[in-house]
Amino acid sequence: MAIIKVQKGTKDILPSEMSVWHFMEEKANEIFTKYGAKEIRTPIFEATELFARGVGDTTDIVNKEMYTFEKSERSLTLRPENTAGVVRSFIENGMHRLSAPVKLWYKGPMFRYERPQAGRQRQFHQVGIEVFGIKQATCDAEVILMAVNYLKALGLNDLSVELNSLGCPTCREEFKTKLKAVIKPYLNDLCPDCQARFEKNPLRLLDCKVEECKEIYAKPEIQEVIQSDFICEDCANHFNELKKYLNELNINYSINKLLVRGLDYYNRTVFEIKSNNLGSQNAVCGGGRYDSLIKNLGGEDTPAVGFAMGMERLASLIGEKQDNRTTAFVVSNDSLEAIKLAEELRQEGISCEFDLTNKKFTKQLEKASKVAKYALILGEDEIKSNQVTVKNLDTSEQKTVSREFAKNLFS
Ligand code: HAM
Repeated sequence: MAIIKVQKGTKDILPSEMSVWHFMEEKANEIFTKYGAKEIRTPIFEATELFARGVGDTTDIVNKEMYTFEKSERSLTLRPENTAGVVRSFIENGMHRLSAPVKLWYKGPMFRYERPQAGRQRQFHQVGIEVFGIKQATCDAEVILMAVNYLKALGLNDLSVELNSLGCPTCREEFKTKLKAVIKPYLNDLCPDCQARFEKNPLRLLDCKVEECKEIYAKPEIQEVIQSDFICEDCANHFNELKKYLNELNINYSINKLLVRGLDYYNRTVFEIKSNNLGSQNAVCGGGRYDSLIKNLGGEDTPAVGFAMGMERLASLIGEKQDNRTTAFVVSNDSLEAIKLAEELRQEGISCEFDLTNKKFTKQLEKASKVAKYALILGEDEIKSNQVTVKNLDTSEQKTVSREFAKNLFS
């Protein structure tokens, strides 16, 4: 019979990888809690309208990539990202009444119907932060600091922060008009996606990956518009303030005027953190400010800023550094004594296994060296004297100690 395989663009996270995932999740809890953030878990599916209105109906995510289905005449969508869901929950639970800032963090699966490739999946996981209620650039700086410190805590240092300001709707409108005017003569030479973006979302022209389009946008008259400082005085002050904080905090960053992000809700600050050790899908983190989204989704006017990171990409950078082994494995021909000792250790919080099939002593020792850091050998002599021989399976050093002492060795 044909076997049923995992779906294209999805992956099992296997037991051998789990310690890396626990490490990412535990560090997220530890680091984000230090900044006063609280965890939130929202449903994996939401009303389709939430994403159409929240993420924006001119984006690739909403137009091409959503897993949408009907149930009881309702259109539902598996979340392609979690900012919209967290905002929905913020509004619905009246969190604007809480003392600002309200800092929420999350982790979990997201779904985008994209062409799978290395670092790009159809079901992937994000860990992210959304901070509500503060319009000052101190908040943008703190959010970037949280991202950088989380990545440091994961042992990831070879990363670069890219920053841009998209201005506010007013100054951005002027920029869009100028950009369209200078690109218009080349309209027929652009890819079909860019031709559609030209009217609907001209900022997205800037992050087109098609070579022919990139060549056109590199033309001097177009570059002059792209590189111009189009943002208004208020937005410029906000951006300068953010840069000042980042400089003082010794966070290295570069300004990337082409950084526009693929979601419609951003204004002012946008940022990405990229790795040199991933292929073309090299962004581990993306985020920015979205001051209009809460109001657009029916809430009180509340400024907000946040980010999300792709956990599969983080996991591939962290690699197999984590030690996945059980702490101890009891080796004994007396399975009753073995189960008792294993249980005593577990009661002390130490992970411990023993042979459930009563194999020969040497086979048990072989098994121990595959799955554990230490073998706890209980031969006849040890049982009589209430002792145990502790063998370090990395160095082969061993010593015989009392059972009480053995427990303390690992705690
Ligand atoms: P995003 O840039 O779409 O932003 O996604 C954030 C991160 O999720 C990316 O940098 C990448 O690491 C990972 N990611 C995205 N798509 C995939 C995929 N198909 N496969 C694997 N990893 C992927 C957002 O989602 C915004 N909600 C971030 C945000 C939060 N902005 C403000 N608050």
